[in-house]
Amino acid sequence: MMKNGGGGGGGGVASPIVVLSVVFAASIAIVFVLGYFSDRANGFGSFYSGSEAELKIPRVELVTAAARVTRKWKEDLRFMYIKKEPPIVHDGPCKDIYTSEGRFIHEMEHGNNKFRTSNAQAAHVYFMPFSVTWMVKYLYKPNTYDLTPLKVFASDYVKLISTKHPFWNRTHGADHFMLSCHDWGDAFLYNTSIRVLCNANSSEGFNPQKDVSLPEIHLYGGIVNPKLISPPPSNTSRPYLAFFAGGIHGSIRPILLKHWKGTDSDLHIYEYLPKDQDYYDSMLRSKFCLCPSGYEVASPRIVEAIYAECIPVILSDHYVLPFSDVLRWDVFSIQVDISEIPR
Ligand SMILES: *[C@@H]1O[C@H](CO)[C@@H](O)[C@H](O)[C@H]1NC(C)=O
Ligand SMILES: *[C@@H]1O[C@H](CO)[C@@H](O)[C@H](O)[C@H]1NC(C)=O
Ligand SMILES: *[C@@H]1O[C@H](CO)[C@@H](O)[C@H](O)[C@H]1NC(C)=O
Ligand SMILES: *[C@@H]1O[C@H](CO)[C@@H](O)[C@H](O)[C@H]1NC(C)=O
Repeated sequence: MMKNGGGGGGGGVASPIVVLSVVFAASIAIVFVLGYFSDRANGFGSFYSGSEAELKIPRVELVTAAARVTRKWKEDLRFMYIKKEPPIVHDGPCKDIYTSEGRFIHEMEHGNNKFRTSNAQAAHVYFMPFSVTWMVKYLYKPNTYDLTPLKVFASDYVKLISTKHPFWNRTHGADHFMLSCHDWGDAFLYNTSIRVLCNANSSEGFNPQKDVSLPEIHLYGGIVNPKLISPPPSNTSRPYLAFFAGGIHGSIRPILLKHWKGTDSDLHIYEYLPKDQDYYDSMLRSKFCLCPSGYEVASPRIVEAIYAECIPVILSDHYVLPFSDVLRWDVFSIQVDISEIPR
């Protein structure tokens, strides 16, 4: 099936980031340039001045420059430096649910990839390597639900690159893209730039004409579960018709669980997986894996089902499926309308 991102063949199973890059490249034929974000290409010198220089934090230069805006931020930066915490740009989480943010940045900046060019004039698109997850971690005050500091950061970031470099102003950022898997990733740069988002909710401003839907991949502890990497041969029997286990989040799962939880021995639908069962073993024993939206439209179950060679059954509203401009989802998945769940 689609395990290698549609490329198929070759025997080995692609790691998620390879899947991402391959499909992503196919999707919008991207050539990346990190030239003006990259310390290696540019040297950091030009971004440092005065007292910031003494911070000497590699790869934090853009944060540093943005931090000139307010004294408060400068203090935050020093705080980050003292605590030796990672910066918000050029880094991101590489494990757990938001893994794609960090993986993509690291793959682009340090990977041996052919999508990046050091010739800024030759680039098709420009990647802005900030992590919304790290913004939330370092700039958000818990329980305030106030995204203003994060939005100020993003807007200062744009101000900085549009002043230092000629590329942004040419198109008002229409050839620049950000990438985020965080639930709040859609709060930034919605007007003109390309947003590559896991949370591709078309009712919340995700625009399939310019934005890109990215699969959500949950790497517990940073790795793909070995059971998913080597599923049993395709003629192995799958005794369960369908499987789902997950919390009652959002509006769709309550309907699913109300109608199907514990109803039929062929359908293994749980809120809490029984202690004697293993989540991935259950996927590998099922013909269909249900992937309902939770708090957000995307679910890592879709990718896990594809790895497990279990047919994903997508239960969502307003979800623009990953890479749906190039992947024919109807040939390897099933989409069920929410109103059909009771039946
Ligand atoms: C881009 O436009 C902004 C706003 O008009 C301006 O401040 C900035 O200097 C321009 N950038 C360049 C590189 O000319
Ligand atoms: C985006 O568009 C809205 C509505 O047109 C406008 O109010 C806002 O200032 C724009 N934001 C940016 C960052 O350009
Ligand atoms: C599955 O296929 C393999 C290789 O084609 C074969 O050796 C094996 O006996 C088959 N198993 C079953 C349960 O049919
Ligand atoms: C998608 O966006 C709409 C509009 O904001 C919202 O009502 C809905 O709950 C969102 N879907 C999910 C699963 O978050």
